[in-house]
Amino acid sequence: MKLKSLFICQTCGYSSPKWLGRCPDCNGWNTIAEETVNVSPVARSRDSEVVPFVLNEIEYEQGERLLTGIGEFDRVLGGGIVPGSVVLIGGDPGIGKSTLLLQVAERIAGDSRSVLYISGEESPAQIKLRSERLSVSSAGIYVVPETSVDEILIHLQKSAYNAIIADSIQTMFTTGISSAPGSVSQVRETASILMNYAKKKGIPVFIVGHVTKDGSIAGPRVLEHIVDTVLYFEGDRGHPYRILRSVKNRFGSTHEIGVFEMREGGLEEVVNPSSLFLSERTAGSAGSVVVSSIEGSRPILTEIQALVSASPFGIPKRGAIGVDYNRLLLLVGVLDKRVGIHIQGQDVFVNVVGGLELTEPAIDLGIIAALTSSFRDTPIDPSTVVFGEVGLGAEVRGVTSAEVRVKEASKLGFKRCIIPERNASMLSVSSVEVIGVSSVKKAIDIMFS
Ligand code: TYD
Ligand code: MG
Repeated sequence: MKLKSLFICQTCGYSSPKWLGRCPDCNGWNTIAEETVNVSPVARSRDSEVVPFVLNEIEYEQGERLLTGIGEFDRVLGGGIVPGSVVLIGGDPGIGKSTLLLQVAERIAGDSRSVLYISGEESPAQIKLRSERLSVSSAGIYVVPETSVDEILIHLQKSAYNAIIADSIQTMFTTGISSAPGSVSQVRETASILMNYAKKKGIPVFIVGHVTKDGSIAGPRVLEHIVDTVLYFEGDRGHPYRILRSVKNRFGSTHEIGVFEMREGGLEEVVNPSSLFLSERTAGSAGSVVVSSIEGSRPILTEIQALVSASPFGIPKRGAIGVDYNRLLLLVGVLDKRVGIHIQGQDVFVNVVGGLELTEPAIDLGIIAALTSSFRDTPIDPSTVVFGEVGLGAEVRGVTSAEVRVKEASKLGFKRCIIPERNASMLSVSSVEVIGVSSVKKAIDIMFS
């Protein structure tokens, strides 16, 4: 074995023969650490020959997906667990990753199936305590407190399981690499060992990864490329809501979200997130409006709040939580210059209630409505839902899935939808009043008439 010392960025995996204060790849300061890596050439066998397949003739067996019965979890995975897939679950410490996976383990372990829970962070007693709290009592869950993947592989040769959970990848190591657990090369190597096992045996492997402050999976950002599916478990620890978001999925669509609530007895799925996000709404207050946005494959109604107030200093402040900051600046500019609502000199803050991140432009008209409502100190009729993209000319542009958005509003008892003209002309929903608008001016006239 030929060992060599390399300096590797712990955030992005960039490697350099000498130490650097700043990573030239991801521009992180002080992220480069020395690691010893094996650089011996990989032995290639010469007798195997590459044989390409004719695409038309490839036959495959559609492996059956394993449904956990936790609807929100199955949907985020694209309709259940794919055999042989490797799923990375990232999130802040304490957000509920271990809780979620123990609950998933119980569902998998039913029907004479078994699950191996490898814990590098907690003792079997701690896991037992958690399982009691969650009332998890399946006989098919096996717990092993182990951090060496080599030991785990030896064990796996003797016993077979239907799924494996590794909690967390930052604690795992293999003796083939001399750097510390949690370093880029350890994380990459241990994950690929688990990955090879998953592919060879056709069983699913769940890998837990902790997240750094800047939101990327620490070190294991390099992991995002190897695994099949990357899920982020997000939420504010001050709120009970947790959002499971798929950011990469080889077996389903991305940007799908699952909503959970952390209770005394563990995570419970929230089947109707719209009513959850609207539950604390103070209807009829100025600066608040409900928008219908699409997250993955389904519509979610949320409240957008705005606060526009006189700026006490020369330079007005802007703040955006849950919406894109630059988008907010643009919409403030459009309102000021094109519509004649002069808020450019005011302090402007926008917040999406419930900790959701809304990224699609269809919420533009909602932001405009909330801003105007706060500026004029006039509430918008609380039974109104608003959506539409706004262009630089203050025109309201059509959006996708308008019918689904309107139907969700009607399902939750809203009476009126103000939507792009283009969408309205193609809709046939009778349970709710649909008003099509082609310009911001017209939308505001209707909202504040
Ligand atoms: P945990 O799953 O240990 O988080 P992670 O693995 O992501 O670090 O969850 C920790 C938090 O969840 C802890 O602060 C307590 C809370 N919790 C509940 O509120 N209810 C429960 O039933 C459980 C098990 C945990
Ligand atoms: Mg944990």
